[in-house]
Amino acid sequence: MHLSPAALVLLSITTAVQAHYTFPRLVVNGKAEEKDWSVTRMTKNANGKNGVENPTSGDIRCYTSQTAANVATVPAGSTIHYVSTQQINHPGPTQYYLAKVPSGSSAKTFDGSGNVWFKIHTSMPVVDKNKQMTWPGQNGYITTNATIPDNTPDGEYLLRVEQIALHMAMQANKAQFYLACSQIQITGGGNGTPGPLVALPGAYKSSDPGILVNIGAIAPDAYKPPGPPVWTGE
Ligand SMILES: *[C@@H]1O[C@H](CO)[C@@H](O)[C@H](O)[C@H]1NC(C)=O
Repeated sequence: MHLSPAALVLLSITTAVQAHYTFPRLVVNGKAEEKDWSVTRMTKNANGKNGVENPTSGDIRCYTSQTAANVATVPAGSTIHYVSTQQINHPGPTQYYLAKVPSGSSAKTFDGSGNVWFKIHTSMPVVDKNKQMTWPGQNGYITTNATIPDNTPDGEYLLRVEQIALHMAMQANKAQFYLACSQIQITGGGNGTPGPLVALPGAYKSSDPGILVNIGAIAPDAYKPPGPPVWTGE
């Protein structure tokens, strides 16, 4: 059988789509958001599912998403993760950020602009005896678990998940950022001073060593996730 060039293009597009994913559903202490995109903002790639490749574009913040109808209540200390639409088959770290909604705004409307984002979690690869790297959450259908720090002040926040696919990252602007933002209200928190605070876009450059990287050629423990350090919780 001979496939026409058009059929071959279609085949490769289909294959590419299958390798991509989005995170439409937040899970808090094992309880999932009741339906997709109800507290998580529907991203521009909800259908195509392709990742963001330019880490300095506006899409890197919340993927140019629509606001969601609801706000999830998330007690400080909760374990959170996201359900993925497809298997998370690409290697790379998972990171979570929070942004406190400024007074006068609300989680349903805040656009996440300004130096407001702090990191609460990142994941590093595990190395086996054959020096093969695997990443927490890789090949599963849910993202890595993270804990909302006990000391996070109460209030409304945007919660941002990203999984950075590094299989093509040896070329500039070929790491793929799979990400989503959810509208949450943190309760029962503390008196911490979260930071360092960064802007998105702003925190990442295309040439960051965690973004432009050949993961086959570095020592596995040498990987440096992009962005600020994880907030210590103090
Ligand atoms: C992640 O957290 C959920 C509860 O939200 C728990 O059921 C699950 O076992 C945890 N997974 C891992 C790998 O710790």
